[in-house]
Amino acid sequence: MAGDNAWLEALGVRHPIFAAPMAGGPSTPELVAAVSDAGGLGFLGVGYLSPEDTRATIRRVRALTDAPFGVNVFIPEEPKGDARHAVIAMKTWLREWVDDPAVAAEIDAIDPRFPTFAEFEAQMNVILEERVPVLSFTFGCPEADTIGRWKESGACVIGTATTPEEAVALERAGCDAVVAQGYEAGGHRGSFLPIDETRRIGTMALVPQVVDRVRIPVIAAGGIMDGRGIVACLALGAVAVQMGTSFLVTDESGAHPAYKRAVMEWRDRGTALTRSFSGRHARGIRNAFIEAVDREEMDIPPYPLQNTLTQPIRRRAAAEGDAERMSLWAGQGYPMAKSMPAAERVRELVQQMERVKSLLR
Ligand SMILES: Cc1cc2nc3c(=O)[nH]c(=O)nc-3n(C[C@H](O)[C@H](O)[C@H](O)COP(=O)(O)O)c2cc1C
Repeated sequence: MAGDNAWLEALGVRHPIFAAPMAGGPSTPELVAAVSDAGGLGFLGVGYLSPEDTRATIRRVRALTDAPFGVNVFIPEEPKGDARHAVIAMKTWLREWVDDPAVAAEIDAIDPRFPTFAEFEAQMNVILEERVPVLSFTFGCPEADTIGRWKESGACVIGTATTPEEAVALERAGCDAVVAQGYEAGGHRGSFLPIDETRRIGTMALVPQVVDRVRIPVIAAGGIMDGRGIVACLALGAVAVQMGTSFLVTDESGAHPAYKRAVMEWRDRGTALTRSFSGRHARGIRNAFIEAVDREEMDIPPYPLQNTLTQPIRRRAAAEGDAERMSLWAGQGYPMAKSMPAAERVRELVQQMERVKSLLR
């Protein structure tokens, strides 16, 4: 669909393909630059980075490419109730489960806390100073004043919605565009309004509802793995797609080799939507850790407290290359993932789109 989308053209993006921001390692500056240079939009996920590392990472992308790119942040969550009992119980369970005195001692020493708003502000100040072309966020909906300030930096501001109501709230708050993230999506769900399980909507049903409810451009996300999926989402009214899992196994992705191997080889495991690793619902390939926590039906401390508590386990798993204890975030389409250089992936997706469109003529 290159060339017939004014919004993308204004951003300087040739193809309706965004590589999803993937915080925690996968979205390296090299991946971002490769996708943007190939005519898509590469995205840095800086959700877990300090202000200093955020600045260094943005500058590294700029050293690699002149093409536009995006930066994605996590909106901090309000502390939810008193989590002390859940934290104590979880620590006890995790210590026993790991069955390793050194990791158990690390877990013991943790006093998890919610990040402060001041910490987020410090990171945002860096991003605004760096004048990034595209700024997206997930896990919340800031006040209109805040979004207005971000837009004054020149950034195109994009929010994340998992329901039509969330998309409407983001439009009202002043977002320039919205990502409609379906149930299939890998990684954390961006939900910020209370919903029950029956309102978890798949991409095919969510995208047209969001397109009908808002006037801003809609970017489809969740389970899109090839040209067929992209053309389907454009037919539903999206201006572009945001693909995470598809870029997770590209050469430039910083995902751990054991994680990439699991995506490529554990094709029949399936995924789970789980709070086990972080305290927030996220979709990943089923492994021993998810099975163990979900079987217990424990009171899991809220995000990001659980995320902090499970860090020693994930760190040790990374050191040992043990995918059974890593968070293997991936969408429901992961068995279709193909490993190759990211630029080649973009070119292949564009060719597939053209082929599908010619079949539809
Ligand atoms: C490993 C991984 C990490 C992710 N990290 C982020 C993130 O930092 N910020 C964000 O907005 N979305 C994040 N997502 C969600 C993506 O933006 C997107 O919604 C999702 O990848 C789409 O589904 P797919 O994986 O099936 O393509 C992540 C997804 C994955 C797979």
